[in-house]
Amino acid sequence: MVSALPSGSAPLYERLATHVEDLVRRGTFRPGDRIPSVREATGDFGVSPATVIQAYQLLEGRGIVEPRPRSGYYVRLAPPTSLPEPAITAPPNSACRVNVCDLVQIVFEAERSHAYAPFGGACPNIELYPAARLARILGSLGRRAKSSHGYDFPPGAEPLRRQIARRATRAGARLAPDDIVTTCGAAEALHLALRAVARPGDVIALESPTYFGVLSTIESLGMVALELPTHPRDGLDLAALEKVLQRRRIAAVVAMPCFQNPVGFRMSDESKERLVGILARHEVPLIEDDIYGDLGFEDRRPLAAKAFDRHGLVLTCSSFSKTLAPGYRVGWIVPGRWRDAVVRLKLMTTIATATLPQLAVAEYLETGEYERHLRRLRRVLQRNVACGLDAVARFFPPGTRVTRPAGGFVLWVELPSGVDAIDLHRRALADRISICPGPMFSSQPRYGQFVRLSCGVAWSDRLDDAMRRLGKLAAA
Ligand SMILES: Cc1ncc(COP(=O)(O)O)c(C=O)c1O
Repeated sequence: MVSALPSGSAPLYERLATHVEDLVRRGTFRPGDRIPSVREATGDFGVSPATVIQAYQLLEGRGIVEPRPRSGYYVRLAPPTSLPEPAITAPPNSACRVNVCDLVQIVFEAERSHAYAPFGGACPNIELYPAARLARILGSLGRRAKSSHGYDFPPGAEPLRRQIARRATRAGARLAPDDIVTTCGAAEALHLALRAVARPGDVIALESPTYFGVLSTIESLGMVALELPTHPRDGLDLAALEKVLQRRRIAAVVAMPCFQNPVGFRMSDESKERLVGILARHEVPLIEDDIYGDLGFEDRRPLAAKAFDRHGLVLTCSSFSKTLAPGYRVGWIVPGRWRDAVVRLKLMTTIATATLPQLAVAEYLETGEYERHLRRLRRVLQRNVACGLDAVARFFPPGTRVTRPAGGFVLWVELPSGVDAIDLHRRALADRISICPGPMFSSQPRYGQFVRLSCGVAWSDRLDDAMRRLGKLAAA
């Protein structure tokens, strides 16, 4: 069946390589898929095994596929894509009040429906979590431990804080259980951190774009946002930060050095160290949101900014919402020199974090299963992101730009000029597709041409089709 190959005067192996490359470009084989084995391809195309091997080596050289020992050739998870990345951002050099809560509410109303193709909320599919295992632990704890029915006042459940302290060594931070206060998710951790270090009217410096939850917390606390230029791969522009610090008083910087939401960059360790050093010189606290820190695509977890903190000026916030169970609402903060203030504020607001979920997560961590689960989860999310990126490249109109996340599971997509993200959001909802429009990620009227697409659900034909329809809507 040599006829399946494109005709022409090129050698057979080149034509076979071009044919397979075309199938990858059209999405017949997606990132992470195994392409036909040498034996299958030999039969399918009527060519010799040597020709197939030569073709596959050519594809490997072009960065399209990669061999896996004793398993065959697979489409690479980071195939070369023709789409450029968005440029470094250039927010205006002025602080302003934030006004994103209304838009966030509108977008999240849609998230409540499971009938929508889920590119909106940044949450892995529940099937990717060890839900049944956690539920069993929870049930057994509820029957065994009577104490789990009472309040567990701040700083929170000791067994959990001990497990979090042990795991922190992977991020380069040396912590004692008492350095940690448990919270109702990372959302409460961020809220407590901001309240501990700043007052209404104070200026908070942020990456631009940034997570809308931080913006809405700043809005609800009556603080003021100052966005800083941010590079799609390297993160916060430290030169710009230094200039601002020389010019005006900043109450705190909020940053996500590891796999930022929505851009997905990972700051280098040198940049994190520089960031912590610059802020220490100016005595400005850094609120580090590390919720995606365990979800990098490389095996080693990157260092947290906390690893470089010599003065207790870094307040690290995180949770198990992206890795285990968002509904358990188990998070934590490492508040540094603001520990007493945070304990007090926590007591005055939510009194305590729910006891049973804390103990269940602690017991799960104690079993050692978490690391295995994380390795699996990271692999699935990396593949989802690669498939999402590939679908954007195939279906979105010319002029589209997209980030190359180093971890996490969201893509930040810049649409061609003339496309309005709020309007696209409205039209996408009508077509049962949820997305997050760019203006949610800024305190300024910015990013009207951007959307954030979440890839937290195992890729499928249904998602591919939704992406095709979304691309069509963007082109219309
Ligand atoms: C960057 C970031 N920080 C904090 C949160 C809030 O996390 P939690 O659900 O643990 O409160 C989220 C949730 O989407 C997030 O993306």
